[in-house]
Amino acid sequence: MAKLTDVVNMEKREEIAVLIINNPPVNALSSGVRKGIFDRVSVAIEDVSVKAVVITCAGRTFIAGADITEFGKAPQAPSLDVVFDLIENSRKPVIAAVHGTALGGGLETAMVCHYRVSTATAKFGQPEVNLGLIPGAGGTQRLPRIVGVQKAIDMCAGGTQVVAEEALKEGLIDKIVEGDLLTGAVNFARKIIAEGRPLRKIRERNEKIEEVKGKREIFEEARKTFGKTKRGFDAPQANIDAVEAAVNMSFEDGLKKERELFIKLMMGSQSAAQRYVFFAERECVKIPDVSAETPQRTINKVGVVGAGTMGGGIAMCCANVGLPVKIMEVNRQLLDKGLGICRRNYENTASRGRITMDDVEKRMALIQGTLSLEDFADVDLVIEAVYENMDLKKEIFANLDKICKSEAVLGTNTSGLNVNEIASATLRPENVIGLHFFSPANVMRLLEVVRGEKTAKNVIATSMAFGRRIQKIPVLVGVCQGFVGNRMLRQRGRETQKMILEGATPQQIDRVFFDFGFPMGPFAMGDLAGLDIGWNKTTSEGETLRDRLCEIGRLGQKTNAGYYDYQPGSRTPVPSTLVEKMIKEYAAEKNISQRVITDDEILEKSLYPMIDEGARILEEGIAIRPSDIDVIWIYGYGWPVYRGGPMFYADLVGLNKIYDRMLEFQAKEGDFWKPSALLEKLAKEGKGFKDFRLGSRLTH
Ligand code: 3HC
Repeated sequence: MAKLTDVVNMEKREEIAVLIINNPPVNALSSGVRKGIFDRVSVAIEDVSVKAVVITCAGRTFIAGADITEFGKAPQAPSLDVVFDLIENSRKPVIAAVHGTALGGGLETAMVCHYRVSTATAKFGQPEVNLGLIPGAGGTQRLPRIVGVQKAIDMCAGGTQVVAEEALKEGLIDKIVEGDLLTGAVNFARKIIAEGRPLRKIRERNEKIEEVKGKREIFEEARKTFGKTKRGFDAPQANIDAVEAAVNMSFEDGLKKERELFIKLMMGSQSAAQRYVFFAERECVKIPDVSAETPQRTINKVGVVGAGTMGGGIAMCCANVGLPVKIMEVNRQLLDKGLGICRRNYENTASRGRITMDDVEKRMALIQGTLSLEDFADVDLVIEAVYENMDLKKEIFANLDKICKSEAVLGTNTSGLNVNEIASATLRPENVIGLHFFSPANVMRLLEVVRGEKTAKNVIATSMAFGRRIQKIPVLVGVCQGFVGNRMLRQRGRETQKMILEGATPQQIDRVFFDFGFPMGPFAMGDLAGLDIGWNKTTSEGETLRDRLCEIGRLGQKTNAGYYDYQPGSRTPVPSTLVEKMIKEYAAEKNISQRVITDDEILEKSLYPMIDEGARILEEGIAIRPSDIDVIWIYGYGWPVYRGGPMFYADLVGLNKIYDRMLEFQAKEGDFWKPSALLEKLAKEGKGFKDFRLGSRLTH
C-alpha cells in the first residue's frame, strides 16, 4: 500500500485503484484530504495499469462535507473545484463507494464521480442550509440534473436527506451493494470496464431541468413555503435561487451564480451564527472536570413522579426511545388523565403521519402508571416533576431515599428551586441532580442539567448521556435562582413590563420580538403559557399588571383573554382596549408618564439586561461557557438560530456599545442598570464573550 498523505491512502486491487480517505471523525474535506485526493487521482490516471478508480472512506462515514473549521480562514490549495475537475474529466471511470452519510461536499464529491454505489444504510444530503449556506461546489447545479428540481429544492433548501433505496430510485446512485462495500464497488468498477460503459458526467444531463424550463411557479411556491417555515433565514431562499439558476443558465454560469451566493452567505452574520451554533451544540456536552471517560451508571428503567403536563411529557421522551418508564400520581383520576394526555399526543402525531398507530401502542405500552412510590424500588433514574413547592419536593426525595436502590440517580425537574436543598433531604446528595425540562417536555429540545454542590461526577456524566439518549440537548449549569434560562428571562421581563407602563403596547413589543426572529413576543407567550403560572390568588394585591389581569380572570388563551383578547377557538391575539385602559390607569396611579418608545429602544432594553445577566452567570461559574448560554436560549426559548444566541449577538453588537448604553440607562433610571464587572472588563479591553475563558466554580 502506497502512502501519500496521512489522510488519503491508495491501494491497488489488480487493475482497480482504491483511494481510502481516512480523516476521522467524519472524513471532512480538509485541505489535506483535498490534496491527498488530487495527488492520488493524478497518479492513478497516469498509471497505465489502472483501469478505474474507486473512492471510499475509512471509519464511520463517507465524507460528511467540507471542513467547517476552515471556513472564514485563508483558502488553501487545492480548492474543491480543482479536485472535482480532475475527477470529472478523468479519462478513467471514477466510482464513489459510500457508507454512512455523504453530506455537503461529500455528496458533491460523489456527484463528480462517474458512478456511485453505496451500502443499504447510506444517506445522502446537502445540509449546508443548516449552516446558513448553500452547497458551494456544484451541488445545486448537479443535484437537480439527477433528482429533478422539486427534490433538489427539498434537499438543498430543506436539508432533507435521502436513504440509499430512494437514492437508487432517483438515480442518485447506481447500485446498492449487499455485503462488503469495497468488494462490491471494485466488482462494479470491473463491470463498467468490461461493458465499456461511458464516463457519465452529471453536468451534461439536462433532461430533468428541461422539463421545468419556464415553470417559474415552482420556485415562487417554494419561496413562499420556505418564507413561512424558515422565516427570517436567508439560506433557504438562496438555495432556491441557485437551483433556479441550474434551470435557466448554462452549467458554467450556474456554477458561477452558486459561487456568488455561497460567498455572500459565508461572509454574512447568519451563516457565522449558524456555524457557531453547530459547534456550540457539540461543545456543551464537554465538561472540563468530567472527562468523556467518566464511568456512567446504567439506565434501563426510569420513574417519573407526577403525571401532569411536565411528567407526562418526560415519560413520552423516554418511551420515544424505547426506554420503559413508570409514572406515579397520587390518585387514579389524575393518573388516568395524565396517561390519557400522553395517548392523545401520540395519536395526534400519528394522525399527522409522523408515527404509525402501531408506534402509538408500543410507546404507550412502555409507560406504566402507578399510584405508589414504592414501585420505584427497581428504577435506575427518577425524575420528580411535581409542582414547585420545596416542602413537597423534600418530602418526595426523603421517601425516594428510602425506596430507591443505592445507585439510582435522583433527578428533579425543578425550574428554579435550590437543588442543594432538595438533595439535603436525602442521605445521598451525591446522587441528586436537576433535570430541568422545558414545556412541552416532549417537544422542546433543551435540558438544563443542574449540578448540585455534592452531585457525583458519574451522576453528571450519566445525566448528560441520558439527555442525549432521549434526543435532548443537555447543558450543564450550576445552582442559582432560575438557573441560566429563567434567570436571564426575569431580567427581560423586568424591562418589558416597565416599557408597557411607559408607553409601548404589548403588541408593539411582541412585534419587535417577532421581527427579531422569536416565534412570538413575551406577552403573546405569557398568554399561551397561562398568566397564572406562579401567580397566587390569595396573596395577589394588584402589584403588577399581570396580577391585575389574573385578578379579573384574564388568565391568557385558556380564558380567551389575557394581555390580548382571543375569539373562542382562535389563538390569534387581538389587541385589547380594556387592557390598554388598564395599562393607562396603572401608569397614572404610579405617576409614570407615557411616551413614544422606539423599536430600537425596546430591543436594547429587552436584550441588554439579559446579556448582562449572562455575564454575571459566567462570572459566577453557573454556566461553563458563553456558547452554553446561547444553546440554552436557542433550544429553550426560541432565540433565532441565525442570530446565534444572546452572547453571540452581544459580540456582534459590540460589548462597548452595550456597556455605554447601560451606563446611559443607569444614569437615567437607576442602579439596576449597572453593568456587571465582566461586561465592564471585556468592554474596556475591547473584547467580546468569544474571548471569555473558563474560570468556572462548577469544578469541584
Ligand atoms: N467539518 C468539521 N468538523 C466536523 C464536520 C465538518 N463538516 N462535521 C462534523 N464535525 C465534527 C464535529 O464538530 C464533532 O467534533 P467533536 O467530536 O470535536 O465535537 C465530530 O466531527 C463528530 O460530529 P458529531 O458529534 O456531529 O457526530 P455524529 O456522528 O453525531 O454526526 C454527522 C455525524 C451527521 C456527519 C454530523 O457531524 C454532521 O451533520 N456534520 C455536518 C455535515 C455538514 O453540514 N456538511 C456540510 C458542510 S459545508 C459543505 O460541505 C460546503 C460544501 O458545499 C462546499
